[in-house]
Amino acid sequence: MNHVLVTGGAGYIGSHVCKALANTGMTPVAFDNLSTGHRWAVKWGPLFVGDVGSAADLDKALTKYNPIAAIHLAGSAIASESVTDPGKYYQNNVLTSLCLLDALRRHGIGLLVFSSSCAVYGAPEIEAIDEKTALNPVNPYGRSKLIVEDALRDFGRAYDFRSVALRYFNAAGADHDAEIGEVHDPETHAIPNALRAASGEIPYFELFGTDYESPDGTCVRDYIHVTDLANAHIAALTYLREGGKSIALNLGGGKGCSVKEILSAVERTTGIDVAVRESPRRPGDAAVLVADPKLASDVLRFTPEYTDIDTIVETAWRWHQSFTLRNSRHEAARSLDDTIRPSSQVQGDLKTRRSGAVDLSVVVPCFNERDVIKITHARLCDVLGRIENIRLEIIYVDDGSNDGTDQIVRELVDSGTNAKLICLSRNFGHQPAVSAGLANSNGDVVAVMDADLQDPPETVVEMLEKWREGFDIVYGVRAQRKESTVKRLAYSWYYRMWRALANVEIPLDAGDFSLMDRRVVELLNNLPEKNRFLRGLRAWSGFRQIGLTYERRAREAGQSKYSVLKLLRLAFDGIFNFSTTPLTGVFFTGLITAALSSIGLVLIFIQRIFNISIFGVSPGDIPGFALLALIILFLGGIQIFSIGIVGEYVGRIYQEVKGRPSYVIRSVHTRSGSNRSDA
Ligand SMILES: NC(=O)c1ccc[n+]([C@@H]2O[C@H](COP(=O)([O-])OP(=O)(O)OC[C@H]3O[C@@H](n4cnc5c(N)ncnc54)[C@H](O)[C@@H]3O)[C@@H](O)[C@H]2O)c1
Repeated sequence: MNHVLVTGGAGYIGSHVCKALANTGMTPVAFDNLSTGHRWAVKWGPLFVGDVGSAADLDKALTKYNPIAAIHLAGSAIASESVTDPGKYYQNNVLTSLCLLDALRRHGIGLLVFSSSCAVYGAPEIEAIDEKTALNPVNPYGRSKLIVEDALRDFGRAYDFRSVALRYFNAAGADHDAEIGEVHDPETHAIPNALRAASGEIPYFELFGTDYESPDGTCVRDYIHVTDLANAHIAALTYLREGGKSIALNLGGGKGCSVKEILSAVERTTGIDVAVRESPRRPGDAAVLVADPKLASDVLRFTPEYTDIDTIVETAWRWHQSFTLRNSRHEAARSLDDTIRPSSQVQGDLKTRRSGAVDLSVVVPCFNERDVIKITHARLCDVLGRIENIRLEIIYVDDGSNDGTDQIVRELVDSGTNAKLICLSRNFGHQPAVSAGLANSNGDVVAVMDADLQDPPETVVEMLEKWREGFDIVYGVRAQRKESTVKRLAYSWYYRMWRALANVEIPLDAGDFSLMDRRVVELLNNLPEKNRFLRGLRAWSGFRQIGLTYERRAREAGQSKYSVLKLLRLAFDGIFNFSTTPLTGVFFTGLITAALSSIGLVLIFIQRIFNISIFGVSPGDIPGFALLALIILFLGGIQIFSIGIVGEYVGRIYQEVKGRPSYVIRSVHTRSGSNRSDA
């Protein structure tokens, strides 16, 4: 396996580089101290939490993964901060980089792609900056990058070592699937700040300087889409692996965009006027910084694809919207809080999200669905794929099938539809499979349905309408079941009993078939509990919900996976460490003993009253013995029964405190072929 060490792999640009590496079949090892990066941004390979300044951490990671090369993005990157705290920049950009270079040399790794910056040029007053432009940094940040570039050159001369220093201009935008994007604290970049101002997170966008020598008086910068930037790293790596010599290259789009043009693009994309406060120029800000990217294009055979500012802003906006509604527990709690006390900005956001184009994810858990899965896929694409203004994402979660379902789904994914396959490492059960699907969904709204088409896709269309009306959860209520009378009675009895016992309002005859707003999905994803029962959690969440009656059809093909035998087998799935079944056993032993002894007591009274002789023994033979024995049995039974009930709860607590994930993902397959194998 070709591992590549990506320092700063949990950061904004680093995470996009990791995704690009995975898309080319390599395995990125994100090496990050998480000082400004995020654990959630590491999705395409292992995360090694360590500091680039620690030789021991580096040795551990390099020994463990033996990478073929390194991409070095870790560092501090706020130019204004470097002026007030230069020590941090010489420490975290220069010393750490030297530590990395030493470690790479110790481990015989001779290829490195380095994140440099256009800050090495300072503020030249020229139209387009090429690599021959004088290197004249105006702040410690730029100087720290230049020192590292010099070190790379010296290492190249002295050792078996080659590098590409990529001098980024302004990285912007976000992953097109909105899986990752820019989240900095503090945020100093123009586009995310303009988006935050548009969505009301900050009161206004601070515009520094309107009297520059530029067409509209505001600073002009060269914005390069972060996906293009990431792809340039792959090109640089390929260049080095093919024997290319050390070089420093500009990475920019080659065209300038003023801050006012950014604001217009943000307003076009969001449809919201951005409040702006004009402030004086910031010291050291050049009027125009635009790259001449020709050398990179010649050497790396790389051309940026997403140069249009509207595309850059759109991807950043999509990410911004989805991020504010997901990921951390803190965000989930905030979402819940928003529901209780909706602020005008959240309502505004909801309104925007629910009209116009919407991303719909459909989660389909599958276990041995070979006979039906193609029919299901065709129906989903046919019914949901053609709805106007809907971008459909189908997420099949293969729950350890052994009939080749995963292979069939893989082919369906490759056939060009927007679908992905998540393979669990074994059969974890229906609820964990649904949880895996929800956790990997990206849509504004997410539907959950079974693979057997008993839940008709047409009902999802009606559910969507209800969601657009403002409901956060729309669940299916089964009008008629196409199952045997015994099963129907059992289900009906079960739902009524559950409703009577539960301490939340449980809808009758509602299964997992439902459609949920992203806020609800994020809340569910971030709940700490492992033992999940979707329909209960959904009801508990308390968002605005409504039931939609539909006729549950017979299976389109194949057999139900919930046979009586399977249910029984599930009960014995694991003993002691993997289940609370022994506790349940105690519970039933007590219950049965108490029940039998009660019957016995009744019989003894009858025997006494009528003086009946049973097996030749009549009540007068041993006075009081039978009664005493039965009372002891009865009380013993009640005690065991009570302990059993307590045990049920203790068992559940035990399951939760172990903190094991409720499922393990073996691989994720998308059309682009990206794959991961992790826990
Ligand atoms: N964002 C831009 O527009 C831009 C422009 C030019 C250059 N760069 C350079 O690109 C690189 C990445 O920038 P970004 O915007 O993704 O920043 P970021 O802050 O999002 O990412 C930096 C990552 O490095 C990690 N990190 C920092 N110090 C570390 C250390 N000592 N050990 C291990 N991990 C450490 C952080 O936790 C973070 O995940 C930086 O080196 C920056 O100087 C960025």
